[in-house]
Amino acid sequence: MTARELMAEAERARRQSYSPYSRFAVGAALLTRDGRVIHGCNIENASYGLAICAERNAVWKAVSEGEREFEAIAVTAGRGEGAPPCGACRQVLHEFAPRVWVYWRDERGRILKRRLEQLLPLAFDHLPRKRR
Ligand code: THU
Repeated sequence: MTARELMAEAERARRQSYSPYSRFAVGAALLTRDGRVIHGCNIENASYGLAICAERNAVWKAVSEGEREFEAIAVTAGRGEGAPPCGACRQVLHEFAPRVWVYWRDERGRILKRRLEQLLPLAFDHLPRKRR
């Protein structure tokens, strides 16, 4: 699956966003090693601090369904909005996929790509990978 195709899935995921407080709808699509695509969107709450980002929503959904190996994640906040994952989401992605490809759009709509290790160098990590 190409970055463009995974981004199209993220756009579909974004339609489910519940973001009446920020009015900033985000969608994510997580590609697993075996080719599944798992959608996530941001979900906010009247108690603002309880909002969950689209990317973490996708990771929690995937892990809860037995998926822990990820190839790529695409993130979009719609036209004109650059939306690389926030720091908290980078750390959560790192737990399962320290070298996962991350795709997002810049303000002009072009897809940018980096490996997570480039977006989160020197990540906090203290469990040897073989114990996961
Ligand atoms: N948000 C995400 O879904 N992903 C990010 O990487 C950054 C922020 C959401 C959280 C909140 O619902 C809204 O965007 C505004 O911060």
